[in-house]
Amino acid sequence: MNGRLKATLVLRGLIVLFVGLAAVFLLDLWGRPAPLRLIPLVDPAFLDTATARRSYADLVRAKEDLSDFDCYACHEKNKPPVLRYDEHQNLLIPREHSDIVMGHGQHGRNNNCFNCHNETNLELLQTRDGRQVKFADSSQLCGSCHGPTFEDWEVGAHGRISGYWNRSRGPIKRQDCVNCHNPHAPPFPSRHPAPGPHLLHELAESSARAETVP
Ligand code: HEC
Ligand code: HEC
Ligand code: HEC
Ligand code: HEC
Repeated sequence: MNGRLKATLVLRGLIVLFVGLAAVFLLDLWGRPAPLRLIPLVDPAFLDTATARRSYADLVRAKEDLSDFDCYACHEKNKPPVLRYDEHQNLLIPREHSDIVMGHGQHGRNNNCFNCHNETNLELLQTRDGRQVKFADSSQLCGSCHGPTFEDWEVGAHGRISGYWNRSRGPIKRQDCVNCHNPHAPPFPSRHPAPGPHLLHELAESSARAETVP
């Protein structure tokens, strides 16, 4: 066989092969892979980095409505509000403050308004050890009763601290206690955990079923 004839045979063989392959693909003889399941979008609530609450200091910075903090728009100076209780010694919250639901400590142990607010000057808070602090410095108030947690917070072990490790390159950002805890009812309501990472590839039937078992 000379070289030319050999080449012609090989080329014809290839043509037959490719036409055959084209037919196989067109007729779908091998079948197609199952379509991938759509990846559900993560609830944006899980990606939100904002804190649970906005503090007085946040409202001041954003120049928002501060009328809730304008105590003397309703109260009279030099006339401390009188706390009223029902027959079971539960504090009664007046209608004007109905947005406040007290639940500080089990059995309402720290529900007394004047454990924190200064009764002779409602625009100030007052710490356990008798210091007067502004609403913007309320973490000092919390720290006066929650010493160990406050120390953890100061060193960055409690409460989300962000910013720079290397302080020579920039400051750290500390969230105040009231950015997360409602001072009037500080425990967190329970919440759903964020979903686990999505494994971009299809799971085998059995493990897929296992994954959906709670
Ligand atoms: C919209 C009007 C209004 C504003 C603003 C307001 N109060 Fe009051 N507050 C009332 C009324 C009305 C009462 C019930 C009558 C009273 O005790 O004087 C009351 C009662 C209270 C009481 C007694 C609560 C109880 O359970 O008996 C406290 C403490 C108090 N206010 C603190 C404050 C503080 C601190 C501020 C500012 C951060 C403030 N209030 C702002 C209207 C207001
Ligand atoms: C006058 C003292 C006092 C001040 C001020 C105070 N707390 Fe408390 N706190 C308590 C007491 C007492 C409890 C109840 C502990 C218990 O029931 O075992 C409590 C409970 C709590 C709890 C729930 C802990 C748990 O495990 O149930 C949180 C969270 C909390 N406080 C956060 C705060 C924050 C935030 C501030 C500042 C806005 C603050 N506290 C200010 C006395 C205080
Ligand atoms: C554990 C401490 C604590 C107790 C107890 C407490 N407060 Fe407060 N309160 C605070 C702090 C701290 C703020 C400011 C929070 C912020 O920066 O968002 C505040 C804010 C407020 C405000 C203005 C914002 C708002 O939520 O309307 C009012 C009014 C108020 N408190 C009334 C009361 C009354 C009335 C009581 C008693 C029924 C009470 N507080 C008990 C710590 C306390
Ligand atoms: C970035 C949010 C955040 C900040 C800021 C924050 N906390 Fe907490 N804190 C939490 C969470 C979340 C828990 C766990 C809540 C639960 O299990 O109910 C918690 C738990 C607590 C508890 C319960 C006991 C414990 O130590 O586990 C106390 C008391 C408390 N915080 C006080 C404070 C005080 C005081 C400050 C400010 C000096 C503060 N927190 C700042 C989010 C925060």
